[in-house]
Amino acid sequence: MKEKGSSFSGSIGFVLAAAGSAVGVGNIWRFPYLCAKDGGGLFLLVYLVLVLTFGFVLLTTDVAIGRKTKKNALRAFEALNPKWKFLGKLTFLVPTLIMTYYSVIGGWIAKYFVTYIISDRKDAATDGYFTAFITSDIAPIVFMLVFLALTAWIVYRGVEKGIEKFSKIIMPGLILLILIIAIFSLTLTHTDADGTVRAGMEGLAFYVKPDFSGLTVKRFLEILLDAMSQLFFSLSVSMGIMITYGSYVKNEVNLNKATNQIEIFDTGVAFLAGMMIIPAVFVFLGTDGMASGPSLIFISLPKVFDAMGVLGQPVAIAFFLMMGFAALTSCVSVMETLVANCMELYHKPRKKMCGAVGIYSLITAVVICLGYNKLYFELKLPNGSVGQLLDVMDYISNSFLMPFISLLTSILIGWVIGPNWIIGEVERNGEHFKRAGLYRFMIRYVVPIVMLILFLVSTGFADL
Ligand code: PHE
Repeated sequence: MKEKGSSFSGSIGFVLAAAGSAVGVGNIWRFPYLCAKDGGGLFLLVYLVLVLTFGFVLLTTDVAIGRKTKKNALRAFEALNPKWKFLGKLTFLVPTLIMTYYSVIGGWIAKYFVTYIISDRKDAATDGYFTAFITSDIAPIVFMLVFLALTAWIVYRGVEKGIEKFSKIIMPGLILLILIIAIFSLTLTHTDADGTVRAGMEGLAFYVKPDFSGLTVKRFLEILLDAMSQLFFSLSVSMGIMITYGSYVKNEVNLNKATNQIEIFDTGVAFLAGMMIIPAVFVFLGTDGMASGPSLIFISLPKVFDAMGVLGQPVAIAFFLMMGFAALTSCVSVMETLVANCMELYHKPRKKMCGAVGIYSLITAVVICLGYNKLYFELKLPNGSVGQLLDVMDYISNSFLMPFISLLTSILIGWVIGPNWIIGEVERNGEHFKRAGLYRFMIRYVVPIVMLILFLVSTGFADL
């Protein structure tokens, strides 16, 4: 069932909501780390080229499919071609998996935010603090519950009064906070016990200066693949989310301009996140201090905040508030996609489906929380890493499903339906689509080949 009047009020509403989905924990805990690991400015450059080519093609495809069919992934692919109905199901699987753990991470952020408000900055910096928290019985579930309730409440309020309204408040707040912290980060200096002085500006150079040392073809391919998988996750493409958000976009909106703005927003925040984190880590922990994922945010940064002295606590509060904003709007987009698909499938109103999806999310998130505790196990993943329940979900959705879905989507659009279908939709408001030639070439030839390689490497079927 299509809700009456469920659309974004205009271009800005759509851009901010979509940017809200795109800007998430990936921008903050993975992008800076990849930069530090993959040659600083070299990675930045590669990433930028990919955003302007792959990012632009994949985002345009998803949004245009949504707007043209006015349907969600489950039904949209079927509407494109009944034989490709399975691709809708596959796409729907991604938010179904991500929903199980995203609110758990949101809960961790909420926990740190509260910790920095009520206690001394030393608490979160003590060794073993994070592990003790995530392996405890009740606390991770309680914080997850708070985060999930907030997410569900926004989704329950609907597209314009919930998602759009909150994105319009949260996203500018996020930018402001990240800018303040990034500037502050550049002004830092620190003297080690042995007298070595390090300044934030040197850390900035480490971040933006391309490092070509030891660069081989194999190394370059590794950097390319790192940047590619980061791009997917970061833009929230190939998981049905941008199809759902696209279905709420009015026909008169200039799609080309809107997708460009979403990309600028997402990449800009990722860049600022690096500017905020890399100099601070460099100043206080040195060049080896960079870590990826949860250990960067919940273990390394608390040590940095502690080393900042009295200013550490307010900066930490601002940081976790900003992080919470980023995670909330992303989690909202995952839940909204599930709710919207279910509404269409079962012809039930938003409120009912919100309840059903809420219960699903709650039960699965509790199981994920217990994955660090009663249900603890370690599994070796095909890509060589060892993970718990959360990592397994993350692996299936990001390393396996997302490249596979992009591969199939590019074949469907490039070869079965034809790129003109998308180009026509982008030009619907009368605006000429300048990069139509690039789009056509990419979706037919480049995207399928590169996605196949990415899929084979990230699933461990092939080595570089
Ligand atoms: N794009 C978000 C990020 O960069 C992550 C995300 C993934 C959001 C999946 C929604 C769904 O963190």
